[in-house]
Amino acid sequence: MDLKRIGRVTLTTFEWIGVVVCVLLLIVVVAIGGMLGWVGSDPAPMGDAGQAVADEPADAVAAAPAPAPTPAEASSLFAPVHRVLVSPRCMNCHPEGDRPLADRGGAHAMNISRASADSGLACSTCHAEHNSVVPGGPPGAPHWQLPPAETPMVFQGRSVTALCLQLRDRAHNGERTLEQLLEHVSKDPLVLWGWSPGGDRVAPPLSHADFVAGFSAWVAAGGICPGETEPPALEPEADAESGAEGEPA
Ligand code: HEC
Ligand code: HEC
Repeated sequence: MDLKRIGRVTLTTFEWIGVVVCVLLLIVVVAIGGMLGWVGSDPAPMGDAGQAVADEPADAVAAAPAPAPTPAEASSLFAPVHRVLVSPRCMNCHPEGDRPLADRGGAHAMNISRASADSGLACSTCHAEHNSVVPGGPPGAPHWQLPPAETPMVFQGRSVTALCLQLRDRAHNGERTLEQLLEHVSKDPLVLWGWSPGGDRVAPPLSHADFVAGFSAWVAAGGICPGETEPPALEPEADAESGAEGEPA
């Protein structure tokens, strides 16, 4: 073996060790800096998920509040139902787009979406059937998931009229009649969760009893929407074939 060559190789190895040590030092410095920045900027004890959200670019889903109701909408039978549906406890799982929403605004941390659920990271990996007792931990209820991609049941950003029309349309509501919708909002565990959401999450603006009462009044009136003088003809079969035509976008 040529000694010069061995010497060169040995020198190169030392250089590599030097590079690795420098990189490790850099990582340590960045990590410590990151932790200090985190603690300094967010004194709230449950800021971890909020931090993750803040790190992400502002998504299209981040800000799309429902338009303020017109006077006709505000006095309609659907108005109290709408107030609940677009409140965070419901809207966060009924988003525009494929990502559930976070309580502090913006999308769910960790890039969670329908795609992550499809690729094996089911919502139930983290969301159990009951709220986590750990501060900042995931809330939970049976069958925690997003509505299907084909009928995403979007509540976010929908006006009173748009959501009213969408909700009663069997092509978009999971093939439900008005009575079945009433049954769903009375008993579904994901709906009921809204009134015991855990952590410091705020319940919807009406009690569950008042919400169900408002919903039944709307159902009893045939699912009438603002601007209509008569209940629509909601023939269960005929309605299903009207399809997506004439839907509010
Ligand atoms: C890797 C773990 C993980 C996965 C997977 C996950 N989540 Fe979460 N989720 C969390 C954690 C942790 C929180 C609590 C964050 C907080 O309260 O700040 C949370 C909170 C939520 C919230 C509550 C927001 C609010 O109103 O306060 C919703 C809604 C939600 N997740 C929906 C989903 C859906 C739907 C899926 C599946 C598509 C899903 N999550 C998958 C960890 C996860
Ligand atoms: C963890 C996610 C999650 C939360 C939170 C949630 N939902 Fe849902 N919701 C779903 C899923 C999934 C479906 C579809 C279930 C199906 O079709 O069988 C659904 C369907 C519905 C439907 C029926 C069809 C339609 O067109 O909307 C209504 C009404 C509804 N939810 C109301 C609510 C209300 C009210 C709240 C809040 C109090 C709420 N949801 C909170 C996931 C959620």
